[in-house]
Amino acid sequence: MKFFIDTANLSQIKEANDLGILDGVTTNPSLMAKEGIKGESAVFQHYKTICELVNGDISAEVLSTDFEGMVEEGKKLAAIHPNIVVKVPMIKEGVKALKWFTDNGIKTNCTLVFSAGQAILAAKAGATYVSPFIGRIDDSGWDGMLLIKQIANIYQLQGFKTQILAASIRNANHIIAAAEAGAHVCTCPLDSILGLLKHPLTDIGLAKFLEDAKKFA
Ligand code: G3P
Repeated sequence: MKFFIDTANLSQIKEANDLGILDGVTTNPSLMAKEGIKGESAVFQHYKTICELVNGDISAEVLSTDFEGMVEEGKKLAAIHPNIVVKVPMIKEGVKALKWFTDNGIKTNCTLVFSAGQAILAAKAGATYVSPFIGRIDDSGWDGMLLIKQIANIYQLQGFKTQILAASIRNANHIIAAAEAGAHVCTCPLDSILGLLKHPLTDIGLAKFLEDAKKFA
């Protein structure tokens, strides 16, 4: 399973990248706004900086909601760096845009996916990645991980090549469950990635080893 970090914060991206296990970055308009990035040139520069920091797929989201606008924006985003993946919302115009990007060799991430039907459409349009939002599904009283399992089963049965990117991850257990459910990628906040490290017995065991080491140092 690939690990992406879900943030536009450069210091968090650097910290995750320094672990040596990072395969890419996802952003969205909310995450960009959180970093105070304003204006097209600042946004484009920020994507370029991220691409220079991390050697992997970097999702950059279109803001248009019509086919022509998405294609124009996506072409400009894809021109920033070869690792840019154009993020497109799961709406009717988005499906058309996904197909256009597929036909023109531009990688895509279909975002805001909340059902298996939407995931089938994304795969039919040739999306590189499909992003079911696990945490938001859980928040609404359903089970986000069941959706990952359902999509993984459908994609396997039908031979779809689209990679399942588990998004809206809220904790380390979500990452483990997404791996078990068959997600190809997990995009996570830094805290959730670091949460995988934690186990009290590791801390207790290390403290004991270091204490015993003093006896023969
Ligand atoms: O990549 C999509 C993800 O960022 C959404 O996460 O926590 O806003 O539901 P969240």
